[in-house]
Amino acid sequence: MAKIYATCRVFADEIARLRGAGHDVQMRGQEGPISRDELIRSISDADAMICLLSDKIDAKVIATGPRLRIIANLGVGYDNIDVPAAHAAGIIVTNTPGALTETTADLTFALLLAAARRILEADEYVRSGKFLGWELLQKHLGLDVFGKTLGIVGMGRIGTAVARRGHFGFGMKGLYHNRHRNIDAERELGARYVTFEELLEESDFVCVHTPLTEETHHLFNKDSFRKMKKSAILVNVARGPVVDEVALVWALETGEIAGAGIDVYEREPQVHPGLLKLKERVVLAPHIGSASVETRRKMAKIAVDNVLSVLSGGEPLNPVT
Ligand code: GLV
Repeated sequence: MAKIYATCRVFADEIARLRGAGHDVQMRGQEGPISRDELIRSISDADAMICLLSDKIDAKVIATGPRLRIIANLGVGYDNIDVPAAHAAGIIVTNTPGALTETTADLTFALLLAAARRILEADEYVRSGKFLGWELLQKHLGLDVFGKTLGIVGMGRIGTAVARRGHFGFGMKGLYHNRHRNIDAERELGARYVTFEELLEESDFVCVHTPLTEETHHLFNKDSFRKMKKSAILVNVARGPVVDEVALVWALETGEIAGAGIDVYEREPQVHPGLLKLKERVVLAPHIGSASVETRRKMAKIAVDNVLSVLSGGEPLNPVT
């Protein structure tokens, strides 16, 4: 019987699958981030761990789990885990690629549209009884989306799914910047590969879909915002630290850019107070890119499948290499 520790609540049927295979499962019941001490205590005798993007699994934490065979991360990103340290300790790391592509692309468009058309401000206006009727110069004049230029930074699975929505759904001209050219996306969507600077200068909507690496840390800074159109909207559903949040607040306050749809933050769950004050064309979400019932179920299933496979001596299904 192996011991499995989950740092968060997981769907009951998935926990039942683990228990049904004869494993002892401990699940953290509380909301909010787990403390380092609690994490270290909880994995000291665990053979497998199911964890979250917000759990910092660094080399020191890994060293306190001498029996660990697998760390199954609930998410496609794994910048929260020191993967080389895990591999050096003989621990397999898995993620949940593919499961959340379309759901995250949907949220990208939800934020893009909500910021462009000022949906939250409009909703608040109606609810507070201020709506007195249609006017030509209505209070919540927004920005058109149809036919505009969509710039994708990071043309992987999610970036391509967003570009597809823009191309087929909104007649948008697609630009992208990526480490490598994505010829399939160019063929299917007519997306044009451009430099980062060209993308900033030409896009009406800039969507961030790049992983967090040393190269992408603060990729969006004051300089980048200065290069963007003053009418542009930034959407970040990737990782908070790709955007310098202080620079973002500055860009929004000074009108360097027109708005933002933000799902991820530099110091999650903290949000820069300046961002909280800005409401015009600014929409904030609590890291819900993959948060549909269907997708979260799929993610849990993938993590559990990986754990079951590794604990029974098989290969991981979604190893991070
Ligand atoms: C979400 O942020 C993920 O990486 O899955």
